[in-house]
Amino acid sequence: MEALLRLAADDMARVDALIIERMQSDVPVIPMLADHLVAAGGKRLRPLLTVAAARVAGGAVENAVKLAAAVEFIHTATLLHDDIVDASNLRRGKVAAHLIWGAPSSVLVGDFLFARAFELMVETDRIAALGILSRASAVIAEGEVLQLTRAHDLGLDQDVYMQIIAAKTAELFAAAAEAGAVGADVDPVQCAALRDYGLNLGLAFQLADDALDYGGASDTLGKNAGDDFNEGKVTLPLLLAVQRTRGREDAFWERTINKGQRDDGDFARARELIVGTGAVTATIETAYDYADRARASLSALPAGPWRQALEQLADFAVSRAA
Ligand code: IPE
Ligand code: IPE
Ligand code: MG
Ligand code: MG
Repeated sequence: MEALLRLAADDMARVDALIIERMQSDVPVIPMLADHLVAAGGKRLRPLLTVAAARVAGGAVENAVKLAAAVEFIHTATLLHDDIVDASNLRRGKVAAHLIWGAPSSVLVGDFLFARAFELMVETDRIAALGILSRASAVIAEGEVLQLTRAHDLGLDQDVYMQIIAAKTAELFAAAAEAGAVGADVDPVQCAALRDYGLNLGLAFQLADDALDYGGASDTLGKNAGDDFNEGKVTLPLLLAVQRTRGREDAFWERTINKGQRDDGDFARARELIVGTGAVTATIETAYDYADRARASLSALPAGPWRQALEQLADFAVSRAA
């Protein structure tokens, strides 16, 4: 990640300036609420992908800067909505916006940021990039809804879990990379390779995120560990632990996940079982498999510092602690 941040420092400074400029509004709660999240930072992974996709293929970066700001707006909007849906209290190390300004304002500011993203995309005059990111926005919403309707269901198929994380997370990584390249008029074969890279990187990233919800610590994560368990969200570490404790802990999982009856201490117990059965480690290993696939996709791109930095990013997406 460091190598990429160094290479992209100037481009990302422009992206950040554009984000600040375009989140302004005469309605005071909008910039206030948006700035609460924007000033808290975030890793800016997705806009980095957009800029890097243009750069790695030797393309111009003008449109990529706008598309990168649009991508971060789409991401920020989904976080505002997601924290309401997931009843999460902490985001980027700060109290979640819906707990300060209320859910209605958070939903509406999320909508505002989505709309700003579309304005930025239109300014690039690249209908293909607009198509890629519009479709991604719809797919993310589908993924979030599918996940919601499949919560509290320990019978969830592992394939459906992969389908959910592909939609809610990997699709935006894929679109961020592809749109950056398409906006720079990069050769279609390389655009497709970058999309593939983003998709696999996004899968690796969400698998690691799901492992961190049991294996990580809230203070480094900037969000609360245990949110998935407390929402009855069925993720790979949970599915693996349920399989590995079959016949011993069925009643515990049935009560806490299917019935949603949780007491103090249940998360600690779940964490113990999930870590103890090696389910966190196995999830991380699966994440590394997808990171390998992401790296392999880059072979279609010119070798050099940008490609090398993207190769390193694949491992960072899994080894990160936050
Ligand atoms: C959070 O994404 C949402 C997930 C897909 C897990 P990030 O971890 O990239 O969030 P920020 O932008 O760095 O805060
Ligand atoms: C991330 O979902 C995907 C979106 C925000 C659309 P999660 O619910 O797993 O992400 P966190 O854990 O809240 O960051
Ligand atoms: Mg969620
Ligand atoms: Mg969430």
